[in-house]
Amino acid sequence: MTYRSRPSYCAAQLAVPPTPWRPRAAARLRRSVRAGLTVLLAGWGSLVLAASLTLDGAHGLRQLDGAALASHPKAQDIEVPGDAAYQRHMRYRAVPLAVVLNELGLGPSDTLEAVATDGFIAQLPGALVLAQEPGQPQPWLAIEIDSAPWPALPGKVASAGPFYIVWPQSVGVRSEQWPFAVVRLNVRAAPDKRWPQIAVSAQVPAGDRLRRGQSLFVVQCMVCHRMNGGGDAQVGPDLNLPMNPTEYYQPHALRQLVRNPSSVRNWPTQLMPGFGPAQISDVELDDLLAYLAHMAQQRKAAPQ
Ligand code: HEC
Repeated sequence: MTYRSRPSYCAAQLAVPPTPWRPRAAARLRRSVRAGLTVLLAGWGSLVLAASLTLDGAHGLRQLDGAALASHPKAQDIEVPGDAAYQRHMRYRAVPLAVVLNELGLGPSDTLEAVATDGFIAQLPGALVLAQEPGQPQPWLAIEIDSAPWPALPGKVASAGPFYIVWPQSVGVRSEQWPFAVVRLNVRAAPDKRWPQIAVSAQVPAGDRLRRGQSLFVVQCMVCHRMNGGGDAQVGPDLNLPMNPTEYYQPHALRQLVRNPSSVRNWPTQLMPGFGPAQISDVELDDLLAYLAHMAQQRKAAPQ
């Protein structure tokens, strides 16, 4: 449900910044383009083809070949019982994300920025993706190989490929922390350091609900929206500039919009997903809406 409405663009796998809408016909070209880009002869001459992943980290800009990753010594076929994007049990060829994080030189206080082909950009805390303790959720990078394409996502034409960060054990992982259609991983500073304008007033005490609301906004909403001009996703509008939705929505309608956008306004190309109580609890939604309302008082000058 969460991902059903996320836009499904074709994967122009190396295009950064993210590609705009493009005709679906172009998707058919994708695999043949990939074939030209990354070819690896594996085993007894069988051909393994996959897209490349762009890395921007401590060692500068690099390209990782998907086919090489899929045959990495640590690669495995893994089971993902509660897959967030497909909403069912899935099986993938995948490599522990730690292999790639090592290439990136990510530290626990850094943020891993995952850029998707459709303009969706997730900010994953280093401490979350680097967790190694038994019992803690550990991320894997699923790799779509041309000879074993994944199905289309529910309600969409495209699959979750070429790369998809999945959590076989996902307790404590948020619905928007499963970035799919990923083509690039960047090491970045934490979002509130990068974009101080998303932060609540300095007077707000530590542990206040407004601070919890801010954290939730970064995880669940900033993947598509900006706040006060801060953020780099472009899928949805800025939620404070020029106006803040708490200024023009009745409180109950705004709650309902987050829970189920099409029950408030409905049109064919609607791209915002609904967040059920499993993704954002009632208490968390209160925190989130309190943060939004607070930010209306922290507005920065509207862009010209
Ligand atoms: C996958 C992308 C995506 C995510 C995640 C997302 N949104 Fe949206 N949102 C959109 C898009 C796109 C629109 C514009 C309308 C549409 O196409 O659905 C929108 C519209 C809105 C609007 C209506 C603005 C208006 O003026 O009508 C609000 C309010 C909103 N989002 C709040 C949120 C909040 C709060 C979150 C986090 C809990 C969130 N969104 C998460 C994509 C997203």
